[in-house]
Amino acid sequence: QLILDTLHQHGTIKDTRTLTLPGYNEPAATHDGQIILLGALNSLSSRDMVTYTTHETMSHVLTSEGSSIAMNGSHEARVWSALPSKEQRPPLTPKELERKIGSEVAKIGQGRAFKNKWIVKEGDGLVRLTESIDDTTQKDMREVDSTGTLKAGEKALAELRKRKLIVPKKGQWFTVHKGSNFSTSTAKPETDLTVDMLTSGAWKTASFKKYNFDAEGMPTNGGGFHPLLKVREEVRNIFLEMGFAEMPTSSFVESGFWCFDSLFVPQQHPAREVQDTFYLSDPSTSLPPPADYYARVSKVHEHGGFGSSGYRAPWSDAESRKLLLRTHTTASSAAMLYKLAARCRGEDDLEADALAAHSGTTRKGKESGDGDGFRPAKLFSIDRVFRNETMDATHLAEFHQVEGVVADRDLTLADLIGFMRVFFKKMGLENIRFKPAYNPYTEPSLEIFAFHPQLRKWVEVGNSGMFRPEMLEPMGFPKDVHVHGWGIGLERPTMIRYGISNIRTLVGHKVPIENVEKSPAVRF
Ligand code: PHE
Repeated sequence: QLILDTLHQHGTIKDTRTLTLPGYNEPAATHDGQIILLGALNSLSSRDMVTYTTHETMSHVLTSEGSSIAMNGSHEARVWSALPSKEQRPPLTPKELERKIGSEVAKIGQGRAFKNKWIVKEGDGLVRLTESIDDTTQKDMREVDSTGTLKAGEKALAELRKRKLIVPKKGQWFTVHKGSNFSTSTAKPETDLTVDMLTSGAWKTASFKKYNFDAEGMPTNGGGFHPLLKVREEVRNIFLEMGFAEMPTSSFVESGFWCFDSLFVPQQHPAREVQDTFYLSDPSTSLPPPADYYARVSKVHEHGGFGSSGYRAPWSDAESRKLLLRTHTTASSAAMLYKLAARCRGEDDLEADALAAHSGTTRKGKESGDGDGFRPAKLFSIDRVFRNETMDATHLAEFHQVEGVVADRDLTLADLIGFMRVFFKKMGLENIRFKPAYNPYTEPSLEIFAFHPQLRKWVEVGNSGMFRPEMLEPMGFPKDVHVHGWGIGLERPTMIRYGISNIRTLVGHKVPIENVEKSPAVRF
């Protein structure tokens, strides 16, 4: 307002150091005063109310010693003030003087007070020589403090700089002119055209803030991909380049039938207990599975068949119909394999047809169209599974499984091993080993180990095997159709690649967002 009023009165402001800020007694000639004015000038010029030019100056400010002299007087003046006059007596000994004004002030002050002929020695003590003194140092300090300079000129300033009482400081002052939007009112211009302004007509007279097309804008920090998503995409691309088709895996909730029974997992298997599997309470029961297939599955469990003697344990319909959170994506693979076998059962399934058409086979041999309806397929999925685990640094109750299944005639274990070597090599794991293992639904089964270069040991990365006839034949596959499959976790390879040692910093509410933003989108 001061700037606008002064411009209104005088047309221009030649030198802003002549302005006296409200609440101050003297013109704002100092550095701080000009900084305050600069803030106002910037704000006014952004609205084109004023224009200004900047002039640079060199001024001086007090050091902390200089400020203390401006306030309490110079050391020599303090020495003189502390001493008695000749008449008063008795003289003060140097010790007494130090006690009175501090040893540092007393020591430095005495020298100058002698030089100025302000004090004299008398016996062991000191007394005043003059009746009054002129503390020019204090006066100089006060002058520099309020004007930034000395009338006495550069020589005097240099002397004070040498005594470390003042230091030079760059300063600025400004010349101000009226701008194209000059007005004496500082009412803020409107930034938005509102519905109210349109209905009331206020927009006609309102003054609007101009667009600043030079503004840098808000930093955009979107577009960070979570490491798990990036590794998932890489794995997906490996499958796609190997000719696999992706299975639908959206059903997190499955029945005991699809998660276990169809896979020939016995109903008494410990994995099915509540300590390991999350069961649903509402609804708790699934719709009935296809009746014929269900009958074949329950029979192979309870009484055997297809060359197997079965488990010979009582079959429970209730156990089969329980709803649960799938514990592995093999539940989805089983459902998809059942669909793939549709044509072998004399039915049709367009979804399985499409997946088979997209994935084909890598093997030469008998082609489809042999009359039994079988079409080879290579299928994969990457999705979430749930287990009732105790959580720790490497285990969560939900995680992602990567799973591949290949269905073709006369596949052997060598095909599975060869396939996995190619697959894991594409994932960057050249050093892999296999160990015989047990799965209820595969025989033989192999655990896959990879050498971990940081941990310098072999770590388990996956599980695999040839699906059992007890699982495939009830689905309707001909005997010469073999299916091999393997499953790996997505979290562990991601942790190895991104050097993450605690899974809770990879998944869940404790994930630091910066980690997601900083994870490179591309790795070489
Ligand atoms: N379902 C197995 C697991 O959860 C992985 C697997 C898939 C094993 C397919 C064999 C065949 O570990």
